[in-house]
Amino acid sequence: MFAVYADAPHPDDPLAGLVVGERPEPQVPDGWVPVTVRAASLNMHDLWTLRGVGIKAERFPMILGCDGAGVLADGTEVVLHSVITSPGWTGEETLDPKRTLLTELHQGTFAETVVVPAANVLPKPASMSFADAACLSTAWLTAYRMLFVKSELRPGQTMLVQGASGGVATALVQLGRAAGLRVWATGRSEAKRALAEQLGAHATFESGARLPERVDGVFETVGEATWNHSMRSLKPGGVIVCSGSTTGGNPPADLQRLFFLQLRVVGSTMGTRAELADLISFMDVAGLKPSIGAELPMERAEEGFRAMLGGETAGKIVFTR
Ligand SMILES: NC(=O)c1ccc[n+]([C@@H]2O[C@H](COP(=O)([O-])OP(=O)(O)OC[C@H]3O[C@@H](n4cnc5c(N)ncnc54)[C@H](OP(=O)(O)O)[C@@H]3O)[C@@H](O)[C@H]2O)c1
Repeated sequence: MFAVYADAPHPDDPLAGLVVGERPEPQVPDGWVPVTVRAASLNMHDLWTLRGVGIKAERFPMILGCDGAGVLADGTEVVLHSVITSPGWTGEETLDPKRTLLTELHQGTFAETVVVPAANVLPKPASMSFADAACLSTAWLTAYRMLFVKSELRPGQTMLVQGASGGVATALVQLGRAAGLRVWATGRSEAKRALAEQLGAHATFESGARLPERVDGVFETVGEATWNHSMRSLKPGGVIVCSGSTTGGNPPADLQRLFFLQLRVVGSTMGTRAELADLISFMDVAGLKPSIGAELPMERAEEGFRAMLGGETAGKIVFTR
């Protein structure tokens, strides 16, 4: 079948391992279902996979794509939940130490068909396009959990999003605005800051800029490049919620500021099936549509990968079939 896959890890030149080609038809284990993919979105996770980060070398070749939307054999339109728990796990999905995302152990969604456990599909509302639905199960779910489950921020408080144009960053801006928070964002260029304002940010700033006042919470996916600024931007008792470290994972800890100002640093990863269901409902209730900067046929996936690698994002990059 048609598939976009990583043939081998290339730590320094991730696109060297990207193949737009053919892979064998998937087997369907008991309790799993085949989904005909209609749209899937690109995440930084796919670039990590191409680099060989978070995946064992023996698991290549691996079909890329860790979210998506499609159609079951009976015609039901579905959104995928891509957190796959280990057999027998009954607790909260993201806390299973052996959980994997699609593309870490099981083949991903940039293909004609993806096979997932039957519990990992949710109904797609008829009013939601496949492209919009494809944005929800990684970037938007991660943003939803960071804001509504982990941060403990309330409407009326001020949140700072580090990065303006990324998939998780744009979702945070849109969700925060819809939920009644004062939303500030940093962006590396005027165009990126303009996008955040168009999506609902009340104010935007250059990366690292001094803010007019300190904020209640900072949302981090950037890592080393912005961490010091995030720590310095918090009010006493404020929170950093971190789900990524694109520019490096070992920033200075600044422990004195951490304990003296009683800051909280909270990690967050993906979200549960129930949170994905709530996110799908929230999109409808709040009238939200994900910001899609580029929509390409899956055959042209390489263009999307190049744009993300070059930092040329304007929200999500979606591949359709
Ligand atoms: N833990 C999880 O479950 C989870 C889920 C999703 C994503 N993530 C992680 O979150 C990160 C973002 O993923 P994504 O899919 O949203 O990627 P993306 O769409 O490519 O966005 C990248 C973001 O990083 C910002 N950025 C990159 N380099 C920067 C720098 N030097 N200084 C300031 N900002 C910089 C960009 O800001 P500008 O707009 O200013 O360019 C942009 O907002 C990745 O590390 C990914 O692995 C984790």
